Amino acid sequence: MWDYTDKVLELFYNPQHQGAIEDNGEAGIKVAVGDVGSIACGDALRLHLKVEEDTEKILEARFQTFGCTSAIASSEALVELIKGKTLDEALKVTNKEIANYLGGLPEAKMHCSVMGQEALEAAIYNYRGIPLNTHEDDDEGALVCTCFGISDVKIRRVIVENNLTTAEEVTNYVKAGGGCGSCLANIDDIIVSVQKEKASATAVSNSLSQTNGKSAVKPLTPVQKIALIQRVLDEEVRPVLIADGGDVELFDVEGDRVKVILQGACGSCSSSTATLKIAIESRLRDRVSKDLVVEAV
Ligand code: FES
Repeated sequence: MWDYTDKVLELFYNPQHQGAIEDNGEAGIKVAVGDVGSIACGDALRLHLKVEEDTEKILEARFQTFGCTSAIASSEALVELIKGKTLDEALKVTNKEIANYLGGLPEAKMHCSVMGQEALEAAIYNYRGIPLNTHEDDDEGALVCTCFGISDVKIRRVIVENNLTTAEEVTNYVKAGGGCGSCLANIDDIIVSVQKEKASATAVSNSLSQTNGKSAVKPLTPVQKIALIQRVLDEEVRPVLIADGGDVELFDVEGDRVKVILQGACGSCSSSTATLKIAIESRLRDRVSKDLVVEAV
């Protein structure tokens, strides 16, 4: 018997958003659908979004989910988290937020929260007419787990985003390794690779700290760069902003463009642009790369 929270059970027994949304051809309204999983694999989620075209605001969301208690509850939590948001705002919802909304999920059920996040991405890409196999998804990577069709890109992403350290955790989050088990050694290799890159980024950060950012170092790999940016934000930028009633969260890194979400006092402050340039961009340029440009999203 799984140890579910009261919130999981409440949403499972009383889901308010099950079903489909029909596209009635209403002016200014577009319906998009995102599919993830498959019934053959035990879980499948179809998410329907009703979007106001002018504002890209999600007016309504519904789901059709085939799966267990946590899959239903995660779908309901996802809908609660995204309703009323714009598509850009909804894209920032992470599987961690879904799990947190539920008061937590058993480790072996964390893949249900990941499935919700993926269905949301699929629906938004569908709305925007972007073929799923062209966005940074598992289709672009080498297939690691043939039982569940999971690529190295997807495994690497879930390891980095959730700080996973064992193959068992990876199985809990994306199912890879949970079938015949023949891919477990490859998953271990990916974990080791990510850990090495993180360690390397930490070493670079320490080196930069010791030399006040003036020494020449080897170019960072993308993972090293993201890890170093995250570390500088956590250790040097956020404490300052939090002391002023604000905060910042790293949203994405595209080349030298660092996208962040300003929160609290920073998000509503009229001088947020100056905050970005002075407190964040200059610090990241000093510590990571002089070419970085910080943008609020
Ligand atoms: S190939 Fe991954 S579990 Fe079988």
